[in-house]
Amino acid sequence: MLRRALFAAAILAAASLPGASLPAAAQGWPQRPVSVIVPFAAGGPTDAVARLVSEAMGKDLGQNLIVENVGGAGGTLGAARVASARPDGYTLLLHHIGMATIPILYRRLPYDPMGFETIGLITAAPMTMVVRKDHPAKTFQELVAWIKEKKEDANLGNAGLGAASQLCGTLLQYLLQTPMTTVPFRGTGPAMTELLAGRIDVMCDQTTNTVEHIKAGAIRVLAVTTPARLPVLPDVPTTTELGMPDLQIAIWHGFYAPKGTPAAIIERASAALRTALRDDKVIARFAELGLTPEPQERATPAAHRAFWEAEVAKWRPVLQSAGQYAD
Ligand code: MLT
Repeated sequence: MLRRALFAAAILAAASLPGASLPAAAQGWPQRPVSVIVPFAAGGPTDAVARLVSEAMGKDLGQNLIVENVGGAGGTLGAARVASARPDGYTLLLHHIGMATIPILYRRLPYDPMGFETIGLITAAPMTMVVRKDHPAKTFQELVAWIKEKKEDANLGNAGLGAASQLCGTLLQYLLQTPMTTVPFRGTGPAMTELLAGRIDVMCDQTTNTVEHIKAGAIRVLAVTTPARLPVLPDVPTTTELGMPDLQIAIWHGFYAPKGTPAAIIERASAALRTALRDDKVIARFAELGLTPEPQERATPAAHRAFWEAEVAKWRPVLQSAGQYAD
């Protein structure tokens, strides 16, 4: 009698274990490599963050996180791919501030731009105002004067409507009240190739993609878009110092999963992300690129969701006043 009672108690106790009620797919996740969709071309800043963080997360999860670049349409093609993927934890999205601007810029999308599970925030990348190395402007003020003189003869490279480089470029043109010619690419990796070759004039791009070219003298930096100067570029003035405090923008990045992904998988992925953000190699490489990891309390699903929704509310009036929609 006692044995039967003990066995029944053991069954009841096992059924109450957190893992026991999980959908089968969530138990022991991941059982195979995980695909991380980056919605921009390889070689750009989003790709760089994704490869660094995915490698560190893979060590914690015991499975590779394999980055797949799905560029185009300002990052919406890659986001659409994940929105329609099976919610089984094997397709994730690493994206940036575009997740807050796309719901505003694109009024007709084949997917719900807010229809994702949040996993956690990763880092916020500063932006740099950079020009081709033979550009006549040697200061930000000279660049402003040049843009006002050249207007549509000045070309600014970006990664399409919804990209961080496009957002910063739109802000610049709006604040100068001067339209430029914008040249979209599938990412600022390819755009940087054109700037390095002197075939485009100006970019506003993340330090992740620009710091090493700046230090090599291959492009010229005229300003950073952060409230304070950057340790990695201490001699470069901020847009606030230069009299343009409204041109202040940091490109936050986060991890997402398809809506309906089991909470246990989301929590396990978020724990691996927080471990990755404490990884010495990630911290050191981030610092070289001008990045700092988000604090642990922001690398959680709830904090990420709250921040994302606040960002959509913040950018809506700004983008509506700029009046530049994708459709
Ligand atoms: C952007 O401008 O959104 C990014 O730089 C795109 C990219 O990572 O290539």
